[in-house]
Amino acid sequence: MTTDNSALIKVRDLKKHYNYGKIKALDGVSIDINKGDVMVVIGPSGSGKSTFLRSLNLLEEPTEGSIIFDGQDIVNEKIDLDKFRERMGMVFQHFNLFPHKTILENLTLAPQIVKHVGKAEAEKKALELLDRVGLKDRAKAYPVQLSGGQKQRVAIVRALCMNPEVMLFDEPTSALDPEMVGEVLEVMKELAKAGMTMVCVTHEMGFAREVGNRVVFMADGNIIEEGTPEQIFDHPKNPRLKDFLGKVLEA
Ligand SMILES: Nc1ncnc2c1ncn2[C@@H]1O[C@H](COP(=O)(O)OP(=O)(O)OP(=O)(O)O)[C@@H](O)[C@H]1O
Ligand SMILES: [Mg+2]
Repeated sequence: MTTDNSALIKVRDLKKHYNYGKIKALDGVSIDINKGDVMVVIGPSGSGKSTFLRSLNLLEEPTEGSIIFDGQDIVNEKIDLDKFRERMGMVFQHFNLFPHKTILENLTLAPQIVKHVGKAEAEKKALELLDRVGLKDRAKAYPVQLSGGQKQRVAIVRALCMNPEVMLFDEPTSALDPEMVGEVLEVMKELAKAGMTMVCVTHEMGFAREVGNRVVFMADGNIIEEGTPEQIFDHPKNPRLKDFLGKVLEA
C-alpha cells in the first residue's frame, strides 16, 4: 500500500529510443510522482513530453529503465496490462469518441466491458460525473452535436468512469477554439482540487502556475529543470528554460 506523500510512481533512468538509438525520445528520465501531485510538463516540440506520458501507461514500450507504480515495476515485471491501465486514465488532444454512440453509451462502454460493471451502475456513475462537468443534459446527444470543449469534457469523464488513481493529460486544450479552453481547464482544476494525481502536458502557462504544484521542463528527452511554479516561472536557472519561457510567455 502507498501512503500519502510517498511516491506513487517512481521513474528511473527511463529511455525510449527509435531508429536503433539514433532518436533518443527519452534519454534517462528519473522522477517521482507523489499521490496528489499535479505535475505540469512543459518544453519545446520534440522534447519527449508525449513519449514520457505514453510511456507512463505503457502505450510506448520503454527501451530501458523502470517505472515503479504502486510498488511494482511495470516495465520489467509481468503485469496485467488491462488492469494496470484501468488505474491510469489518459486524455489526449483529440477525444476519439465513438460517433455513432450517444455520450452516455460512450461513457458506459468500457466500464461494462472491461470492468464488468452492470449497465445501471455504469450509467449512474456516468451521469453523476457528467453533472460534475455541467453536461448531464447532453447524455443522450451524439458527439457531433457537441462543441469541441464539451467533447473534451466528455473525454475526461470517460477516463474518470474507470475510477483511475492517476490522470494523464497530453495537451487536452491545444486542438480547441480559444473560447473553449477555459471550460476544459476548469474541469481539470476541479479534479486537482479534489485530490486527483495528475500529470499534464500543456502550453497553458496560467494553468501550470495556478494549478500545478510541480512543473517539469523537458528538453532533448530529459528533464532539465524541475520545481514549484514559482521556481520555474519566476526564478528559472537553466538557460534553455529561460529561453523557452521567453518565447512562450511573450507569445
Ligand atoms: N514512433 C516514432 N518513431 C520515431 N521517432 C519518434 C516516434 N515518436 C516520437 N518520435 C521522436 O521522439 C522525439 C520526442 O517526441 P514527442 O512526441 O515525445 O515530443 P513532444 O515533446 O511531445 O513534442 P510536441 O510538443 O510537438 O508534442 C521527437 O524527436 C520525435 O520525432
Ligand atoms: Mg506531444
